[in-house]
Amino acid sequence: MTGRILVVGSLNADLVVRTERFPRAGETVSGGDLSIGAGGKGANQAVAAGRLGGDVSLVGAVGADANGELLRAAVSDAGVDIATVSVRDGVATGTALITVAADGENTIVVSAGANATLAPADLTDDALAGAAVLGLCLEVPVATVRDAAERGRAAGVTVLLNPSPFGPAARELAPLADVLLVNEGEAEALLGVVEGAVASDPSAVRDGFAALGVRRAVVTRGGDGCLVVDGDAEPAHIPAVRITPVDTTGAGDAFMGALLLRLADGDDLLAAARFAAGVGAFAASRPGAQASYPTAAELRAFRA
Ligand code: RIB
Repeated sequence: MTGRILVVGSLNADLVVRTERFPRAGETVSGGDLSIGAGGKGANQAVAAGRLGGDVSLVGAVGADANGELLRAAVSDAGVDIATVSVRDGVATGTALITVAADGENTIVVSAGANATLAPADLTDDALAGAAVLGLCLEVPVATVRDAAERGRAAGVTVLLNPSPFGPAARELAPLADVLLVNEGEAEALLGVVEGAVASDPSAVRDGFAALGVRRAVVTRGGDGCLVVDGDAEPAHIPAVRITPVDTTGAGDAFMGALLLRLADGDDLLAAARFAAGVGAFAASRPGAQASYPTAAELRAFRA
């Protein structure tokens, strides 16, 4: 049994079309059949942890529509408590328009819908009480994320922030997190360092994070693994799990959900990130966001 995991974040209906390659600006390309899947960075984190056996609750909002029903059912089926996922009248459920190219890479445009209505008051003291870890992303209003992070820290909850979609708020919110999860490009933008600095000078990256008030961070590097920064220690490199990417949509959220699970279970950051790397790789080797996340048994078979 793990400590309780709380996620405050988004739910989106993912409208996905696969295409050989992405269109250039102004260009039209043909794609395959349209599929509708369960996504949203917050819901994805929660489902990744829930499917692996975590005790997870999600705070979020959907519209009173068919997509909202679909998303609540998908999250609940993964064993996540959805009592704090509100259904709002007069607003559509969040939607993501996703293209996936033959190499597994994606582009995503999000229409926030009900996610934009998630307010600080949606996170009640009752929901926060007893949580071991709190997962946050930036697909809900910044004020809500800031408030949740501050209250989580004050309550002794370990706060993990994935500042994605990445923007100016990341710099302001990063110091509020106990653990920051960013990809390589985001880390370099946040630290104001040149491209390639994460790979070439991990100690400078650690020092740059420390100057921002961030003592613990994981920097994911796609096929090059990830870098774990934990206090003053020399940053540790974790090699990538070798896979053939099918669809990288939501792989970062799977990583985050697995990190939440293992930190709630008492692992140190390095051990948690090692585990999360396997979960992220599993997700990238299958289509969809939540649809690609493993159960504990599936993950064991994948690693064997
Ligand atoms: O990180 C992947 C997610 O981003 C998708 O599920 C989509 O909904 C967008 O939120």
